[in-house]
Amino acid sequence: MAGIIDGKKISQEIKDEVKEKVEQLSKKGIQPCLAVILVGDDPASQVYVRNKKRACEYCGIKSLNYELPEETTEKELLALVDELNNSKECNGILVQLPLPKHIDENKVLLKIKPEKDVDGFHPYNVGLLSIGKADLKACTPAGCIELIKRSGVDITRKNCVVVGRSNIVGKPVGMLLLSENGTVTTCHSKTKNMSEICKSADILVVAIGKEKFIKADMVKEGAVVIDVGINRMENGKLCGDVDFAEVEKKASLITPVPGGVGPMTIAMLMNNCLIACKKQNM
Ligand code: GUN
Repeated sequence: MAGIIDGKKISQEIKDEVKEKVEQLSKKGIQPCLAVILVGDDPASQVYVRNKKRACEYCGIKSLNYELPEETTEKELLALVDELNNSKECNGILVQLPLPKHIDENKVLLKIKPEKDVDGFHPYNVGLLSIGKADLKACTPAGCIELIKRSGVDITRKNCVVVGRSNIVGKPVGMLLLSENGTVTTCHSKTKNMSEICKSADILVVAIGKEKFIKADMVKEGAVVIDVGINRMENGKLCGDVDFAEVEKKASLITPVPGGVGPMTIAMLMNNCLIACKKQNM
C-alpha cells in the first residue's frame, strides 16, 4: 500500500513559513499586498477567490478584492490591471480565470506586469521558467514539485512522466521536473503507447481532467504518483485523474483527491506574493 502524500499538511507548513517571513518583513514596515480580480459570478471562481482571501488573512498578506460584474468590458478590465501595475502598494495581481467570453484572456494576462504576475502565467515568466530562472513559478506546478520534494523524494535521475500538456500545468510541471534533473516525457491525447510510457515512470504526474484515467496496469510498482485532476463524479463526489483505489496498491507514494495537489496551489500563491513583494522592495 502506498504512503499518502498529505497536501493539506504540506500546504499548511508552507503557509506557516510564509506567515513567519511576512512577520519578519513587517518589522521593516513592509506588508505584501495581493490584488484579486474576479469578473462575473461563476460559483467555483467565487469559492477560489474566497479561499485566496482567507489564506492572505492567515499569512498576514493584505488583499485587495475586485468583484466586477459580468458585463465589465475588456477595456475596463485592462484599465484596472494597468492601475494596479502602477500602484506602489500592490505587489501581486491575480485575475481569476476563466474570464467571460467577450474578454480576451491572453490580452489580459499579457497586460499584467511580469514582476506582479503571481500566477506565473505571463509569457515572460513562462520563458524564465523554461530556462530555469523563474522567480514566479506557476502555482500548481510548483506545488507538485514541493509535494514530491517534501515527501523525501529526490527527482534527480528519475524517469518522470507527465500526462497532459496544458499551458497551466502539464508543460510547466515538465519544465520544473527537468530543472530538478529528472528525465521527462510528456504524454497527451496523440501519444502512442501511453500505458507503456506511464509504466516506465518513477514519478508520474497526471493532469488531463479525465476521471480515474490512470489504472493500476499503467503504473510501475513503487512509483510516486501525483494527481492534479479534480473531477466531479455523477454522485457529486470529487475524484482525480488517477484511479486511487487501484493505484494506491502499487505506488510507493500517492496524492489523494481532494487533499493532495489542490491545497498546494494557494500555498504557492502566498509564497509568490512574498517573493514578488521582496523583489519590489529590495
Ligand atoms: N482558475 C482556476 N485556477 C486558477 C489559478 O490558479 N489562477 C487563476 N488566475 N485562475 C484560476
